[in-house]
Order: sequence, then structure tokens, then C-alpha cells
Amino acid sequence: ISLKSYNTFGIDVKAKFFVEITGLVQLQKALELKAYPKRFIISGGSNMLLTNDIDALVMHINLKGITVVEEDEKTVEVKAMAGENWHELVIWSLKQGYGGLENLSLIPGNVGTAPIQNIGAYGVELKDVFVSCAAMDVKTGELEGFDNEACKFGYRDSIFKNEAKDNYIITSVVLKLTKKDHVLHTGYGSIENELKNNGIVHPTIQDISDAVIAIRKSKLPDPKEIGNSGSFFKNPIVSKKAFDKFSKSHPDAPFYEVDENQYKIPAGWLIEQCGFKGKRIGDAGVHDKQALVLVNYGNATGKEILNLSKKIQEEVKKKFKLKIQPEVNIIK
Ligand code: EPU
Repeated sequence: ISLKSYNTFGIDVKAKFFVEITGLVQLQKALELKAYPKRFIISGGSNMLLTNDIDALVMHINLKGITVVEEDEKTVEVKAMAGENWHELVIWSLKQGYGGLENLSLIPGNVGTAPIQNIGAYGVELKDVFVSCAAMDVKTGELEGFDNEACKFGYRDSIFKNEAKDNYIITSVVLKLTKKDHVLHTGYGSIENELKNNGIVHPTIQDISDAVIAIRKSKLPDPKEIGNSGSFFKNPIVSKKAFDKFSKSHPDAPFYEVDENQYKIPAGWLIEQCGFKGKRIGDAGVHDKQALVLVNYGNATGKEILNLSKKIQEEVKKKFKLKIQPEVNIIK
């Protein structure tokens, strides 16, 4: 079967075998199938670049359900199954009046993959609201719990991208949200502007979500219209020493201070400076409103996108002596 509609890049590769997973017992059983020793897990398909046909049993994680597991006067713990669409969970939480996810509005993908790369946007990361997740050990079929600390979250990073890579399938996630006294994060420059432009002085969580949605829509392509995986690269983090050197020759470059000794330089800016913004080679391209996003205009292959990404890395290296690394998982 073609996986084109199962990955947001819209890459047309084929899966040798395919199974839709809708229950935990079924997942356990599918993991035991000795006839299919190789398996490949796909959930929202929003953070991967497929470059070849998949010679394995593709398991599409489609576990559904959102429930409140605990609450007091001020906070609530919500459990969402891995196959729930992330943005639909955000909308649901706002409808209940629960705060915490508003800055993470409109991020493509599913709940179960959110912890893998610690999704983040506009000053908030998943780790800020994350309590725990349940994950099935692919060897034993047992469910294990990972609390916030156990996940070893970092910038677009977690244990599931490192030591635990390929060993677990995340089945559900528990998030702690606020019922009142919401903590609003409006510090990220463009949110304040967006609110101001709409004459909003005392924003609600819904206002923040609306602002984030407006900003994202103005910069980021909708995967339903143009295939993409959001930011293709991570923003490089450099030492103060390296940053000082960099900013001397590029005083106009934007940056974020991570801490006293670490600075993040927006890869989108670096890529734009290299002249790639809006560039297109066949159906593979660089988005014209945000150079950090690579796009598939229709029939690009994963290899074509990968080649374009390599070209970008080389040019950025040549021009700025900086290495940029993919954020997206490249499936060889
Ligand atoms: N910039 C340019 N040219 C571009 C793109 C960006 O000059 O083509 C400049 C902007 O003007 C701005 C700076 O770079 O000064 C940062 O741009 P932006 O605010 O768009 O954010 P980003 O650093 O490029 C990151 C995340 C996004 C997230 C936004 C907002 C990463 C890899 N990306 O992008 O996450 O939505 O911040 O918080 O950290 C994703 O992970 O898929 C993603 C979209």
C-alpha cells in the first residue's frame, strides 16, 4: 500500500505490509507476529522523510481517546491516546477552558509522537505540561511508564530519539493543564504584535491560540495543501565565543539567548541568506515564507528532498561555518 497519505510530506513510497492499530491488545499481538520480524511505526507521519519503500510491517498507530484522569480545583490531568490528532487535543482542551496547550496550537502530528521530539513553539515546549507517557516495549509487549524526568527532554529531543530509539511505541500521554490562574506565555515577539494588532490587552487562552494560529498560517504551509514536515532543520546552538565571532561579521542576524554560554541562531535566517528561500528544484522546494521548511509541491521523492537539504547544509557551512542538522527523521 502507498504511504503517501500517511506522511505529511506526501512522499509516495510503498509499505510491504500494513496494519492499522486501534487497540492495545492488538498492538501486543502484532508485535508478536514472527512472520514480520521487521516493523516500522507510523503515527501522525509529521516528522519524517521517507526515502525508500518500507520492506517491513508498517504499523499505523490509531489509538483514540481523551479522558480526564485527575483533577482538583486548579489543575487537571488529561490522558490522550497516541493516535489522537495533536491540534484536535488542543482545541478540545480550550473548549473545556483548560490552559497550557494554547501556544502549541496547529502543530501537525499526533499525540503519541509529540514527546519524541518534545514539540515546541512560541515559547512553550511539551515538557512544560507533560506528566508522563505509557510506552509498549516492542520486545516484551509490556507497557512501561515514563515520567517527565525519565523522558530526558531537550530542545527537539528526548530519550525516544536516543537510548530508547526504536525500542518503544508510545501509546498514551498524560498532560497537566490549568483550570484557572492560567500562566500565559506571550513573550515570543510575534504573539505580542498579533494581540496588539487585534486590540487585545487582556488575552485569554483562546486569544493566544488564535494569535498562534494566525502567525503559523502566515508563515507555515498547511500539509494538506503543500507537503511538508514543519521545520526541516534544528536551529544551531553555539557557544558564546562562537556566537561573538559570528555576530561580529553578521550584526544583523537574529538570535535567542539559551543561557549565558549558549546562543541559538535561526537556521531559517541562515538559509535565506544563502539564497534558498522560495527556491524550487522539480517538486522539491524551500518554502517562500519560512526558509526552514522544505516542501513537496506534489510528486517530489524523498531522495530529491534529501538532496536539496544536503545542498542547503553545504551552502550554510560554506557561508557561515555553521553546521545545521535535520530535525526531521530521515528514513533510509
Ligand atoms: N527568519 C528569516 N528567514 C526565514 C525564516 C526565519 O530571516 O526564512 C528569521 C525570522 O525573521 C526570525 C527568526 O528567523 O527573526 C526566527 O523565525 P521564526 O520565529 O519563524 O522561528 P524559527 O526559529 O524559524 C522555531 C521552531 C518552529 C516554531 C517557531 C516558533 C525550530 C527548529 N523551529 O522556528 O517549530 O514554530 O520557532 O516558536 O526550533 C517545527 O519544529 O516544525 C516548527 C515549525
